[in-house]
Amino acid sequence: MQTAEQPPTVNVITGGAGGMGVACARALGGTVLLADLSAERLAEVAGELAGDGITVETTVCDVADPAQIAALVDRTAALGRLGALVHIAGVAPPGFTDPEAIIRIDLVATAQILEAFLPLVTTGSAAVCIASVGGHRGVSRPVDAVLADAFAPDLVDRLLAVLPTEDAGLAAYAFAKRGVILQCERYAAAWGARGGRVNSISPGHIDDTSMGSLIATASPYAAIAALGRAGKAVEIASVVSFLVSPGASYVTGTDLRVDGGTVPAILHHRDPEERDSWHRAGTSLPIA
Ligand SMILES: NC(=O)c1ccc[n+]([C@@H]2O[C@H](COP(=O)([O-])OP(=O)(O)OC[C@H]3O[C@@H](n4cnc5c(N)ncnc54)[C@H](O)[C@@H]3O)[C@@H](O)[C@H]2O)c1
Repeated sequence: MQTAEQPPTVNVITGGAGGMGVACARALGGTVLLADLSAERLAEVAGELAGDGITVETTVCDVADPAQIAALVDRTAALGRLGALVHIAGVAPPGFTDPEAIIRIDLVATAQILEAFLPLVTTGSAAVCIASVGGHRGVSRPVDAVLADAFAPDLVDRLLAVLPTEDAGLAAYAFAKRGVILQCERYAAAWGARGGRVNSISPGHIDDTSMGSLIATASPYAAIAALGRAGKAVEIASVVSFLVSPGASYVTGTDLRVDGGTVPAILHHRDPEERDSWHRAGTSLPIA
């Protein structure tokens, strides 16, 4: 008797042409669909990965555009069954400081992606969204209720209204990444109802990516980390692999800090002013 052939499992990675994206593609293997802004960069990365026994598909996709997210979902469905969805694409200071764009690209796009992929979720599908230790800063807690509803039409206006003018980009990033953590909590039930899981990872300073090398020019947090060093993209990828694996089958709706103990070191910093200034993200905003 002939049995129907199972469609292949596809692992989708946004920000797939970046440092963490490539490390995750290597760690996950199989059929990997890399989505990113630049066709040129995607082609370079696909070439690098081709020798590693990975089936690499690529697609140009700006995650800030819902129509391009819809096209990414269609492309995934055409390739096979959704396995892992690793949502890495994002922007951050000091390279990127426009607060509105940070909120739209980092936060709103994350909610749109988790929503748009929902119809493809089947038993075993698992999303990991990359948040940040920035999302653990106290400055964002008073606006949790706003951040939790990423589809509210007045979301951006409400956040811009409370942002100070000084260091607005850093505070917007803290808001947006806190929002990423909250979206993963919120979508756990909807994905769970279809047999899927959703988690976030909050990296500390990861210094072997383009973004990480820029952060190195502005942040002292690698030195503050309990482990006294920055992390590497492969150290994020190995935790992504765990979170999408059957070994994490009862883990959903949670955030895992992969920061070498950066947040714990700051929370228990011997100088309370140092701790509070980290929580304030350089602003004079109140912290909860
Ligand atoms: N590197 C760090 O120290 C660090 C720390 C905490 C969190 N993060 C988070 O990790 C992610 C960055 O990953 P990385 O360190 O590999 O950096 P990276 O710069 O190497 O990769 C980021 C990738 O995202 C892509 N991208 C940016 N905007 C996009 C958009 N609108 N649509 C599609 N793709 C887009 C870029 O083209 C790039 O390829 C971000 O979400 C960032 O907030 C990084």
